[in-house]
Amino acid sequence: MLRAGIATVSLLLAACGPKDPARLSTGEELYQYYCLSCHQERNLGPHLERLPHDTRPPQPHELVLMMRHDYDNPSLHPDIRLPQLSAEQADALAQYAYKLSIQGN
Ligand code: HEC
Repeated sequence: MLRAGIATVSLLLAACGPKDPARLSTGEELYQYYCLSCHQERNLGPHLERLPHDTRPPQPHELVLMMRHDYDNPSLHPDIRLPQLSAEQADALAQYAYKLSIQGN
């Protein structure tokens, strides 16, 4: 009985521990891990709240190309190469970041 209790507690602890980035799956989690701090440092707001809306934001597919396929267009965004992302992760992240970038403020 006690043993089962201990096993349950350690399982729960493992689930709450810091996540391995390879296992992040939602756009929001990935954004927080890979993107948020630089936007904050560059004074854009952690979720791009202060992004000046004078340029065309990169489309989700352009973000995916930049992250996974060496597409570099400095007029759209500083270099963000993340070849370690899976196609699914890159897609989720691009959709999420694109939504942030087009939210009017
Ligand atoms: C090296 C710093 C840096 C990192 C890391 C970074 N960004 Fe940015 N991001 C910027 C800057 C600077 C801007 C605003 C100027 C611009 O668009 O060039 C920006 C703007 C954006 C915009 C709005 C673009 C626009 O021009 O309207 C999107 C979307 C975006 N970033 C997505 C991402 C995603 C997704 C990641 C994580 C994979 C990421 N960024 C990581 C610096 C960074």
